[in-house]
This record gives sequence, C-alpha cells and structure tokens, in this order.
Amino acid sequence: EKGTYDHFMLKEIDEQPIVMRKIIQQYQDKNGDIKLDKKIRKVMTKSDRIYIIAAGTSYHAGLVGKQLIENMSQVPVEVHIASEFSYNMPLLSENPLFIYISQSGETADSRSVLVQTKAMGYPSITITNVPGSTLSREADYTLPLHAGPEIAVASTKAYTAQIAVLTILAVDTAQAKGIELDFDPLKELAIVASAMESLIDQKEAFESLSKELFETTRHAFFIGRGIDYFVVQEAALKLKEISYIQAEGFAGGELKHGTIALIEQDVPVVALATQENVNLSIRGNVQEVIARGAKASIISMKGLERSTDDVVLPAVHALLTPLISVIPMQLLSYYAALHRDCDVDKPRNLAKSVTVE
Ligand code: M6R
Repeated sequence: EKGTYDHFMLKEIDEQPIVMRKIIQQYQDKNGDIKLDKKIRKVMTKSDRIYIIAAGTSYHAGLVGKQLIENMSQVPVEVHIASEFSYNMPLLSENPLFIYISQSGETADSRSVLVQTKAMGYPSITITNVPGSTLSREADYTLPLHAGPEIAVASTKAYTAQIAVLTILAVDTAQAKGIELDFDPLKELAIVASAMESLIDQKEAFESLSKELFETTRHAFFIGRGIDYFVVQEAALKLKEISYIQAEGFAGGELKHGTIALIEQDVPVVALATQENVNLSIRGNVQEVIARGAKASIISMKGLERSTDDVVLPAVHALLTPLISVIPMQLLSYYAALHRDCDVDKPRNLAKSVTVE
C-alpha cells in the first residue's frame, strides 16, 4: 500500500493536509459548528485540572495541547510522560480529568496509568488513531484522530492529527464555558491544510538542506522558545530515531546554562522562530551559536523573517504553528535517514507500538 512511495514515512508526511481536511469534516455539524460528544463537553467543563498522559511523539503533541487548552478554555493542564507518572504521581486536584494521547492506543506505559486512575474513579478521554484499541476501550470516552493507518515507526501524521483534535476540543470547551473566542478552529485548520500543502511541495529544498546539515554529522541541536520549544523536542526525537544522529531539542534561553559548551565547529543547529514575542531572543541565541562555529539555520514564520537566509513558513494562526513548523522537521529527518542509508520505516531497536512497560 505504499503506492508510488519508497517509504511509508514520506507517504504519511504527504497525507497530512488530507488528514486535516478529514478531521474538519468529521468534527463539523451541518451548520459548520463543532460536532463533539456532549458528554465529553461535560467532563471537560466539570474538571478543575486536566492531566495529559502520553509517550514519545504523543507526549510532544500533549505539550502543544496544554498551550491550546489553557489559552482557549482556561483550564490548567499538566502534561506527563506516562512511564514517569506511574511511579511518581503528582498531587492531584479535586476534580481531575485524564486525557490519554496515543496513536496506537496500545502503549503499555499509558495504559498502566489509565488502570490506576480508573481505579481511583477519575474520568478519562483517549485521543487515538485506533478506536477499539485497549486505551480506547478502557477510557470513558474516545476522540478519534481519523488519520488512517500509520505504518512507519516514526510518527508524523498522528502528531498533527492529535494537535488538530486537541484544538477542536479546546475551542469546544471554551464555547461550553461561554468564553468568547475570535477563532474558528475549523476555518483555521483549513488554512493549515493549504499551508501544509505548500510546504510539502517544497520537498527538494528540504532535501538539500538536510544534506547540508545532517549528511555526515554525529550531533545536532534544535532550539526554540515558547511553543517552538515543544516542536524542537519533537524534531530531535524524529531525527534521533530514524537517522541515529544524537540530537537534542533545547529551549533557546537555556543553552547558555550549560549546553552551549557542546557547540563546536560545524555542528548543525536548527532554530524555529514562529512567535513574534520570542523572535528577537531566539535570533540572539542563534548568533551565540554561530559565534562558536555552528552551522545554523532559521525556520521562521512569514512576517517574522529577518534575513534572506531564513526558511519561511506560510503564515497560520500563532497557536497552530506547530502543525506547520513540524513539517520541515519531519522532512529533514526523513532525508537525513535516507542519505545515511538507514532503514527509514523500521529503525533499529524500535517497534511501532510499545506494548511492554
Ligand atoms: O502509539 P503511541 O502514540 O502511544 O506511541 C507513543 C510513542 O511510542 C511514539 O510516539 C514514538 O515515540 C514514535 N516512534 C515517535 O516517532
């Protein structure tokens, strides 16, 4: 079912605009409003704190989800790595709600938390690509991703689908709470779908950038601030797992507190600059690494570019930039793995779903 593609990963990267449109269609009623189970609305509005539990890429989508839910629906959110939460449970609020994010719905680490929180009597929602999976069956409610099967071990379209569904959930909760928002998620996601298409059409540019940055390096750094920090963590995971380059995603401002000691001649550093409030400060961090010999590249959002060398992303709503900024990261990783002769779809030591704790 790879069709004309050499790898599932590239096929799945390319499918992202279609997935966005599918989500819009599935979560829209005939009046163009959000269509969501009323019971989900009820548990979302009743909770005084939401706990998002996930692993890997789904955890990274959860970090963006926290931003979306807190910004729009004004409920505090904590995001936890499932395997840590199990053994080190934080003090819980009075009315917690647990949201499990899992592409496969079979991740044992997340399931073990669900078993615990269910036993404690707390409500749960699973956001998954596989309705009928263990986490979907065992949680009270399921929000499906509608992304179609994801075969490559490296998760791509599930990440963007998770963020899109979290956006809809955040807005629906805001509406239920009577919070006025100047934001129509279904319209904004349609803009995202077109922006994704235009990036996917620029594959060759990302292939050559990937060659320049990653063909021979052993180390790589991704830096960002604010919401971009969440995306650079995902970028580093993607690069690590399929190209075996040791990569880290750092908060720009944190570099000078230690990590900058690792920057040496020709080390690739990719910076994300999609947010106006941190545009200058992240560029300051880029200057600091360039001064130490790094090979730096800045990916910025249209309107925020400050140099002709910037890779410029099409503009989307400021809270939805992860849906767009992750695409170059996915493509850079894909081509890095390809150029380094790695097994793109089935990287060593990894399984598509991790069903052991
Ligand atoms: O199926 P899940 O979303 O629960 O899987 C979680 C992680 O195992 C998964 O995202 C993993 O990190 C991917 N290989 C990342 O590309």
